[in-house]
Amino acid sequence: MSKILKITGLEKTYSSGNKQLTVLHDISFDVEQGQTFSIVGPSGSGKTTLLGLCAGLDQPNSGTVELCGQNLNILNEDQRAQLRNKEVGFIFQNFQLLPTLTALENVSVPLELQGAKNATSKSKSLLEKVGLGDRMHHYPSQLSGGEQQRVALARAFANSPSILFADEPTGNLDDETGEKVIQLLLELNKENGTTLVIITHDLELANRTQHILKLKGGKIVTNQPTPSREASQRNK
Ligand SMILES: Nc1ncnc2c1ncn2[C@@H]1O[C@H](COP(=O)(O)OP(=O)(O)OP(=O)(O)O)[C@@H](O)[C@H]1O
Ligand SMILES: [Mg+2]
Repeated sequence: MSKILKITGLEKTYSSGNKQLTVLHDISFDVEQGQTFSIVGPSGSGKTTLLGLCAGLDQPNSGTVELCGQNLNILNEDQRAQLRNKEVGFIFQNFQLLPTLTALENVSVPLELQGAKNATSKSKSLLEKVGLGDRMHHYPSQLSGGEQQRVALARAFANSPSILFADEPTGNLDDETGEKVIQLLLELNKENGTTLVIITHDLELANRTQHILKLKGGKIVTNQPTPSREASQRNK
């Protein structure tokens, strides 16, 4: 298997005023192409910071991120944005849909901006896939949280990313809706071969991915294939 994400010796320090706070220390790990991979750890352990570095949204103080074979350190901001548009999808805990666009537009507009053909028909079929065929013309405020997260899911998959980063994708949803979103995520992952990197507090969800990385105080404490046999079978 080839490595879609290769992290070596990452360190991240925030400075506020004259204080320096190192929130990630010497982080190294790899994610294989097509893998489902969880990042877990207590609040404040550095998970979101790490995700931002992996996706090239932010830059480390030292260390390297290789995403889809490209060393992000030697790309400029525009080049990193281009790589993200082409290869990366995101799902955030608070959905981050644009309130003035309908569900359909939230999915299709980013595609159109990238010059994609058939943006509307592709978006429609993705929304149907996540069970929102009859909600396409609703605005985010007219949708439930679970429905909004499913729009975000459709949007994340619209550019057929090779890797999808999800930060607490079920954090704001009830158990049942969260379960639906997880199933969709894993299903889309299987169908498209999309690599999935999920930050979660939910150990049950983590156990359903193939690999778990645990952070504590900005350091890796566990980096191993998921012990549960169920997970490896489910993901075969
Ligand atoms: N922009 C920033 N400036 C200064 N410190 C920051 C900044 N962003 C995050 N931090 C600090 O870095 C540490 C890690 O934050 P991060 O958001 O990565 O944690 P997390 O593991 O995602 O937590 P949670 O589970 O609560 O989302 C925290 O102590 C936080 O206060
Ligand atoms: Mg976080």
